[in-house]
Amino acid sequence: MAESFVLSTGSRIPSVGLGVWQIQPDAANDAIYAAVKAGYRHIDCAAAYNNEEEIHGPIRIKKGTSTMTPENFLPTDIPATWAAMEKLYDSGKARAIGVSNFSCKKLHDLLAVARVPPAVNQVECHPVWQQDKLRKLCQSNGVHLSAFSPLGSPGSPWINGPSVLKNPIVVSVADKLQKTPAQVALRWGIQMGHSVLPKSANESRIKENIDIFGWSIPEDLMAKFSEIKQVRLLTAEFVVHPQAGYNTLEDFWDGEI
Ligand code: A2P
Repeated sequence: MAESFVLSTGSRIPSVGLGVWQIQPDAANDAIYAAVKAGYRHIDCAAAYNNEEEIHGPIRIKKGTSTMTPENFLPTDIPATWAAMEKLYDSGKARAIGVSNFSCKKLHDLLAVARVPPAVNQVECHPVWQQDKLRKLCQSNGVHLSAFSPLGSPGSPWINGPSVLKNPIVVSVADKLQKTPAQVALRWGIQMGHSVLPKSANESRIKENIDIFGWSIPEDLMAKFSEIKQVRLLTAEFVVHPQAGYNTLEDFWDGEI
């Protein structure tokens, strides 16, 4: 199984990256150092995580601000924002450009106007929210899907709903293969064809989460995952605000909730 996936630009994206969302700023350095030592060459970072300065989804905020709070929201203008990203790509400052939290509708609309199509759409994806429809749209348009919260973000205050790591199918596959539920959730992801961004601030779990090569989940056990009831865990209520142009969660996710 590939340790990296090839993007539409020809660049490669490592199939396992360290998720940095919700790592405390003072712990981020140590976690990134441990990850690079363990072999990670892909770090997911953004200013919205409050441990870097940058941008992160179909949301627009005032210049010079970095927090997604109502006073900072502006209505989105995805074509204009994307044109600015295309300039970055043209200049060579970015080897690939992508989007995050794009629904099928937003991705479809962007593909219709983009001169440089997005190479990646980074979205919530794990056995409890498998993104079948979005995955198919991405595959048929050469957009790589990258999964944040691939373990279901246990313990996160933003997450509501069933546990991924305690899901009986995930646990039974882990028992059969003598792997941990986290390793099975991550391995399922790369076998589905997407990269995974597990977050951990703990060195032994950082190592565990990249130890998912040299073994695989057999086809009969992969098939079991389709029996899992699907629930979006990160609904992101905090983006619903008239000033952002989203009056309801349905608006933001274009009904995919
Ligand atoms: P910790 O940082 O203490 O390791 P996600 O990547 O889906 O957002 O999940 C991140 C959460 O999962 C964090 O709370 C992290 O805690 C925990 N976690 C990361 N790796 C593992 C693992 N291998 N087993 C159990 N929990 C894990």
